[in-house]
Amino acid sequence: MNVHDSEQICALLEGEEYEMTKDAQTADLIIINTCSIREKAAQKAYSQLGRYRALKQKNDSLIIGVGGCLAQELGHTFYKKFPHVDFIFGTHNINKLPEILKKIELYGERVTETDFRESVKSIGIFALPDNGSLSAFVTIMQGCNNFCSYCVVPYLRGREESRPLQDIIDEIHFLVDHGVKEVTLLGQNVNSYGHTISEDTNFPSLLRKIGKINGIERIRFTTSHPKDLSEDLIRCYGEIAQLCEHIHLPVQSGADRILKKMNRKYTAKDYLNKVDRLRAQCPAISITSDVIVGFPGETQEDFKSTLALMDYVMFDNLFSFKYSERKGTKALKCDSKVPEPVKLERLKLLQAKQEEHTFRRNKVLKGRIEEILVEGISKNCQNDLTGRTRSNKIANFKGTTELIGKMVPVVIKEPYLHSLRAELITEGEVQAC
Ligand code: 5AD
Ligand code: SF4
Repeated sequence: MNVHDSEQICALLEGEEYEMTKDAQTADLIIINTCSIREKAAQKAYSQLGRYRALKQKNDSLIIGVGGCLAQELGHTFYKKFPHVDFIFGTHNINKLPEILKKIELYGERVTETDFRESVKSIGIFALPDNGSLSAFVTIMQGCNNFCSYCVVPYLRGREESRPLQDIIDEIHFLVDHGVKEVTLLGQNVNSYGHTISEDTNFPSLLRKIGKINGIERIRFTTSHPKDLSEDLIRCYGEIAQLCEHIHLPVQSGADRILKKMNRKYTAKDYLNKVDRLRAQCPAISITSDVIVGFPGETQEDFKSTLALMDYVMFDNLFSFKYSERKGTKALKCDSKVPEPVKLERLKLLQAKQEEHTFRRNKVLKGRIEEILVEGISKNCQNDLTGRTRSNKIANFKGTTELIGKMVPVVIKEPYLHSLRAELITEGEVQAC
């Protein structure tokens, strides 16, 4: 989500005659787009801001702005800690950037824009992906109404708001016209898309409409809330040819007691039933998830339930986090905090298990033919091309650069933990490497 917000910021500023530079030393304007979902992300932004203090001392005309969740949370109090910051813009105010910069230019004063808006205009900024990539993000909704007890998103990104269906379709046509082949639809809970618009606007109907757009070869989406994953959405797998065989379905915990305290509104059994349904409909589907360890009150038994759930599902990949206290959330008031060393130990155990599972899931692909959208030259080997399978796994293989941007068939030769070694298939024959 934040990456796409940054793309939108760049698109807006390019329209204002700004040009991107990778060199902060020579920049006229530096914008830090922050995330504060976990303490670690917030700390990263603080240390980055600290580093830019010296640049401002050297160059008085440098303008520094802070956007995103942390800006939303702290507003003008940011200036106390970081007096070298010139402007703050919250999560609903990206579209105001040109106006903010003009005000600073005219009056030379700090500007703070952190109001929540009823209609979030920034959702509608068309932005092409970075570096001419053929894979683009499209925001379909913003905010969240779920109030999971550990999460700051509803407070910092506001209530859920779906973007009008036609706006989304128009943006995808714009992307296709610029060569984009793959779209990832973004929202905190895409499964509830349309609820704020009308009764018959929903996520499966949006997917079906996008599936009819000529030129879109792959459709992905993130994130899905398990409680809202409908039978109709499950049916879309197999029905919409471009819908990729992957779902990111955060489970957070395998213990019902903890899920209840987290306000997730499903049980471990409900989750597993949905996994079974997804696999029955689409056997090749790759399932990834998020888990939090050390939520207040999490016992060793609860943690074991999470490990047991992992053993059942055998996720293709998992993002795992130590519970991090966030201001304003309900979980902050919970007793029985889990000590840091226990959280760390659980995290390590869970990650070791996941490595085993990821490798096992990758090994299943050995010898299979997979379709790859070729993204470019591999970072690790100049002679290799790199791309992703429909199941969202990285595959590297030998091939010439004219294949970049194309969809090619490969055979998986050697699965590793973080990637797959593949060979290009040309005219029905497997080439020797
Ligand atoms: N502590 C730890 N992890 C969190 N997440 C969200 N809030 C917290 C928190 N307070 C994780 C969840 C979510 C992912 C985006 O970040 O797993 O799915
Ligand atoms: Fe946060 Fe829960 Fe909303 Fe996800 S669904 S953004 S975890 S409140």
